[in-house]
Amino acid sequence: MSKFEITANGRVATEILVGPALVDEPVLPVRSGRQQAVILTQPGIPRAIAERVAAGLDEQHTILELPDRDEAKRWEVVAELYESLAGLGVARHDTIVGVGGGALTDVAGFVAATWLRGIEAVYVPTTMLAAVDAAIGGKTGINLAGKNLVGAFAHPAKVIVDTAVLDALPLTIKREGWAEAIKTGFIADRDLVQLFVDSPEDPPTEEIVRRSIAVKADVVSEDFTETGRRMILNFGHTIGHAVEIVQGISHGEAVSIGMVAAGELSRDKFGFDFPINATLASLGLPIVAEADLKAVEHLVWLDKKRDSAGLQMVLLAEIGVPQIVHVTADDLGLGLAAIGLA
Ligand SMILES: NC(=O)c1ccc[n+]([C@@H]2O[C@H](COP(=O)([O-])OP(=O)(O)OC[C@H]3O[C@@H](n4cnc5c(N)ncnc54)[C@H](O)[C@@H]3O)[C@@H](O)[C@H]2O)c1
Ligand SMILES: [Zn+2]
Repeated sequence: MSKFEITANGRVATEILVGPALVDEPVLPVRSGRQQAVILTQPGIPRAIAERVAAGLDEQHTILELPDRDEAKRWEVVAELYESLAGLGVARHDTIVGVGGGALTDVAGFVAATWLRGIEAVYVPTTMLAAVDAAIGGKTGINLAGKNLVGAFAHPAKVIVDTAVLDALPLTIKREGWAEAIKTGFIADRDLVQLFVDSPEDPPTEEIVRRSIAVKADVVSEDFTETGRRMILNFGHTIGHAVEIVQGISHGEAVSIGMVAAGELSRDKFGFDFPINATLASLGLPIVAEADLKAVEHLVWLDKKRDSAGLQMVLLAEIGVPQIVHVTADDLGLGLAAIGLA
């Protein structure tokens, strides 16, 4: 088992444990006053995972199922959940345990952050993407007035990553997380990238997760509320996010396409020469978009990372050397052409 920490203002905000079969261990931090735990999960997540988590608890507990995927991040669902917590008498020292993918951990974290002005949260991420990204970093939120527009920075006390659960994931769900993991490698860890190059068919889950979390925990600890260094985590996201919306594909697939575009700009500006496209394609990730060029362009310019000086993107001078640069409309055109939008 490996252990990581996210620290804020010199204190440990989150303890992260990574290893096989961890859902069978007691997942809750030791603390006095806890009367009960509420386990949140979704119908698309194998029920056995939440039940194994429940079996390890000495405390009184209840398992509640929210709707699947981002349907759980709806305000109506959250409002109903608050009513359930009131009915159960969930109090200040109780704990919400989110067992699921990024959608579930986002809403579990948001509810924990707001119920009684904040109670303890624990996450058990069950998708690769949640394990390497969504569950790490303290961003919680729901889709109200737009995707992730309402939320809070709130760190779970503990994140339990069971690598055997991740190993058992269907390939399509695993791959989406691989995209975020290799992104993390591109910005900060050459050895992590090499794991994917060496075994594109079956990259080693535990090492990928450990390395990705090590980087993200480090970046987040340095930039707790996203005012600076955290921006490097957006590599592949500026164009990727627009393609995700216009084409209606998964976040991981969109980030893959976005990295191809950002890789091309990196080549143009810095002579970056790593074969990003071939590497992503060997993992079965998409490298071209099938979307309306104008719609993608429009969304990119609306991107929230835009500042008064124009559009900013994260590019690579080399692996592990991210650069935040301003890009022009011509630059953007070059990136979009690289993903088949010209
Ligand atoms: N907070 C953050 O920093 C952050 C970062 C990235 C993404 N997100 C959010 O995460 C969400 C996407 O997360 P995701 O990619 O994990 O998708 P998801 O949570 O929607 O889950 C995808 C699918 O996988 C199923 N699933 C989950 N675990 C499974 C398992 N063990 N076996 C089989 N199926 C399983 C789910 O039921 C769902 O149908 C989005 O809402 C996004 O906004 C948040
Ligand atoms: Zn992402």
